[in-house]
Amino acid sequence: MIKKAFIFDLDGVIVDTAKFHFIAWQRLAASLDINFTEVENEQLKGVSRVNSLKKILEWGNKEISPEVFQSKMDQKNEEYLELISTLSTSDIMPGVHDFLLRLQQRQQPIALGSASKNARPILEKLGIKNLFEVIVDGTNVTKAKPDPEVFLNACDQLGYDPQESVVFEDSVAGVQAANKAGMISIGLGEQEILHEADEVFEYFTDMPNDYINTLLSKKK
Ligand code: BG6
Ligand code: MG
Repeated sequence: MIKKAFIFDLDGVIVDTAKFHFIAWQRLAASLDINFTEVENEQLKGVSRVNSLKKILEWGNKEISPEVFQSKMDQKNEEYLELISTLSTSDIMPGVHDFLLRLQQRQQPIALGSASKNARPILEKLGIKNLFEVIVDGTNVTKAKPDPEVFLNACDQLGYDPQESVVFEDSVAGVQAANKAGMISIGLGEQEILHEADEVFEYFTDMPNDYINTLLSKKK
């Protein structure tokens, strides 16, 4: 039986938390008097918390002390956690749960590859943590996407080569990370934004019925 490592990003792929990250960053930028719109936000998708704040400060041409920097990061995370406090199974993105279950039925290995330090509690809230054989998140990696570390770590732990791995991503940085690793990159979102991906779908529900077979025989 052909097998591949299936590696999923979390925010914006499994669950629509990307909108809550945006709201929390926007509030934080406003508190520093920095203009922040969906355009800038696109560049923060997949980017770690600390690097996101650095970018916002750069865009706003602002400097803050290390103490204020830390307190702003804490503030952003508190607001974010408040916004996601009611997450449940019903917040899983369309088609994702079914796709994961079909992979499990076919005994295909599943991993998470996320920049978020909140990944594990979020998967628990969604009730799908047990579907993931391996979880690599913001607490395990040192180099942020577009560096491929997070995905290489995940496929390595599953015991697969990068060429035998498929990554699902909603961010430009994440698609670039998968490509750099030599993995098949599947974008979830807009073709125009994710054009570097090997294939792009708006949702998992837009994939053809036998798409798992297609992916299993697909070469990078
Ligand atoms: C990524 C998100 O998955 O995780 C980013 O796309 C977010 O928007 C990053 O900044 C870090 O997440 P967290 O939960 O550790 O602040
Ligand atoms: Mg994402």
